[in-house]
Amino acid sequence: MNRIPLIAGNWKMYKTTSEAQSFISALGKEIATTSRLVCLAVPFTSIEAAVEAATSTPMTIGAQNMHDQIEGAFTGEISARMLNGSGASFVLLGHSERRQYFGESNALICRKLQLALQEGIIPFLCIGELLKDRESGNYEKVLKSQLEECLQGISSAQAAQLVIAYEPVWAIGTGKTATPEIAQAVHYYIRQWLEGRFGEGYAEKISLLYGGSVKPDNIASLMEQMDIDGVLVGGASLDVKSFSKIVNYI
Ligand code: PGA
Repeated sequence: MNRIPLIAGNWKMYKTTSEAQSFISALGKEIATTSRLVCLAVPFTSIEAAVEAATSTPMTIGAQNMHDQIEGAFTGEISARMLNGSGASFVLLGHSERRQYFGESNALICRKLQLALQEGIIPFLCIGELLKDRESGNYEKVLKSQLEECLQGISSAQAAQLVIAYEPVWAIGTGKTATPEIAQAVHYYIRQWLEGRFGEGYAEKISLLYGGSVKPDNIASLMEQMDIDGVLVGGASLDVKSFSKIVNYI
C-alpha cells in the first residue's frame, strides 16, 4: 500500500504567535502545490492563530503534548478537549524530550494516547532508543517495550488512525542522522511488530515517520526507503527555506 508522504515539523519551544503566523503564510506560498501531507506541531499559545493562518494551505496544525485527564485541578496543564476546541488535529505524544525532561513513562503516554483517540485527535506516538541501547545492541527490546506499553488496550481499528515516529534519541538535535539503512531496518521491525499485534490490514494504514536531524540534504535518501512514510523534523522545521525544501524534496 502506498501511504501519502507525511512531512511533520515539531517547533518545540520556539516561535511566538506572530512569528508562527508569518512563518505559515510564507511557507504556504512555497508549498502551495504539494500533494504531500504537511503537519506542524506548534506551541499551545499559537494553535488557534496557526489553524487560521493555515486555512487554504496544505498544512495541518497540531500540538506537542497534552495531559492524561480530560479535565481537573491540574494547574498549568492542557487537555485533549481544549486542543480539540482550539482546532488542533493531532498531538505528539511521548517525544523523547518529554520522556527525558518531564519523566513521562510508557504508561502515562498510553493514557494520553487513549484520551486523544477518544477526543478525535490523531496521536503521533514517538518512540526511540538511547545511544547506550544502540551501542549495546539492545534497541529492538527497548522499542518493543515502548510499543507494547504505549499501545496497551488499543484496538486494531484505533491503531489504524495512528502515526508512529521512530526517533533515535542519539540522532535528535545532534546532526547525527541514522543512515537510511539503519532507519529502514528499524521501520521494518516496527511494521512487523504492528502486523503481529494488529493484523496486516490495519498495520499497513499506519504512517511510520523517521525523526532525528532530518535536513534538506538527507530527506530524499530517507524517503526512498520502503518502510519510511514520512519524517518528523525539529530544527530544520523552524526555517521556511529549509522546511520547504524538505516538503518539496525530489
Ligand atoms: P531534530 O529534532 O530534527 O532537530 O533532530 C527532531 C525531533 O525532536 O522531533
